[in-house]
Amino acid sequence: MPNVVIIGAQWGDEGKGKVIDILAPKSDFVVRYQGGNNAGHTVVIGKDKFVLHLIPSGILHKGKICVIGNGVVVDPKALLEEIAMLEAKGVKVDGRLFISNEAHIIFPYHRKLDELKEKAKKKKKIGTTKKGIGPCYSDKVARSGIRLIDLLNDRVLKEKLKANLAEKNPIFTKIYGVSGYSFKTLYKEYKGYAARIKRYARDTTVLLNDAIASKKSILFEGAQGTLLDVDHGTYPFVTSSNATAGGAATGTGVGPSKIDKVIGIVKAYTTRVGEGPFPTQFDPDLLEKIRQKGGEFGATTGRPRRCGWFDALVVRHSVRVNGLDEIVITKLDVLDELKSIKICTGYRYKAKTYRDFPSDIEIIKNCEPVYVTMPGWMTDTGKVKSYSRLPVNAKKYLDYIQKLLGTKIVLVSVGCDRKQTFSNR
Ligand code: IMP
Repeated sequence: MPNVVIIGAQWGDEGKGKVIDILAPKSDFVVRYQGGNNAGHTVVIGKDKFVLHLIPSGILHKGKICVIGNGVVVDPKALLEEIAMLEAKGVKVDGRLFISNEAHIIFPYHRKLDELKEKAKKKKKIGTTKKGIGPCYSDKVARSGIRLIDLLNDRVLKEKLKANLAEKNPIFTKIYGVSGYSFKTLYKEYKGYAARIKRYARDTTVLLNDAIASKKSILFEGAQGTLLDVDHGTYPFVTSSNATAGGAATGTGVGPSKIDKVIGIVKAYTTRVGEGPFPTQFDPDLLEKIRQKGGEFGATTGRPRRCGWFDALVVRHSVRVNGLDEIVITKLDVLDELKSIKICTGYRYKAKTYRDFPSDIEIIKNCEPVYVTMPGWMTDTGKVKSYSRLPVNAKKYLDYIQKLLGTKIVLVSVGCDRKQTFSNR
């Protein structure tokens, strides 16, 4: 298989975990390149349900090598808990998981800052997962972060941790009026993590490029979604990393010329968790119905997701900024009972109709969506085994989406199980 990037084409939670799980057997390496344990990838295998936050879901496939790249921020406590969960379920992790020496490490002060900043924003909060993601990336960009390689060097860890606490403790005490962190306590806790994580640390850029040189294939597992990308998303209601395809290169040290294909995962409707504008949100009744049918609750925080009609402006934006080659449609079955289905093809704002996703958050927040309405199929698609066997109206819905996006739908998913997926080749 070629080297493929899998990205979420909307606001995350498109079902990337399931698609990666299907493609993983064909690749040698599965690699995370951005985000941290804010992600939640759910994979259902028979009666077993795995929710992975940090470790690539390729770990569920025997013999696959999994890499956490330099672009990821790693909370060692969460990592060790995830490893323990996997091992308790009989999944071997040792010798199959490698973490970039250059990945930045999340500390308790990042989590606390995340929480305090959100609280201080009141109604303007972003609705973060409070996992410390934003503050950890802020330190990375400010060049004061602590990387895995630093965590493993006692002298460097002491020096950097002291410098960070000297800067952060006054923020806690003077700005937020809460107590700061003790160097001694944090140092002891993180020394303990260092001892347990050391075995996973590698120069993963060398590992991956050597693998490519020897014709091994890589699956790059994006987290979150395009509209949560810090550059291309609905800023400031975004996460703090590049969830788009470009992040796969910077977040692993694999050059763009080595990436062969980018596949976008697209939910048959739209969802969003956290704050921020969402033009096509359903009315409350339909929202509740689809939320229950689609199990639309955050895999990481358990928060209910907002749900809405398919927004072609959002996904066309994704096609562009990711250079999507192909599309996978997930959760088509969730729409099975609807009499009619809408697709948003424009935003109407101040007497102008926008056909391309605007960068002005004011427009996204205050626009009137322009819809095309299509008849529903009102048939259970959960047992459908091929594209040709889909109800006629479901095919028409997908064909119209394909036309609007100018990108081929190659796979359709109609349920949680691995088997409820068929191709459109
Ligand atoms: P953060 O990544 O915790 O800083 O949160 C920033 C925004 O991204 C919030 O709106 C979160 O709800 C959203 N977010 C973060 N991770 C995910 C995810 O895996 N799926 C969907 N939304 C996410």
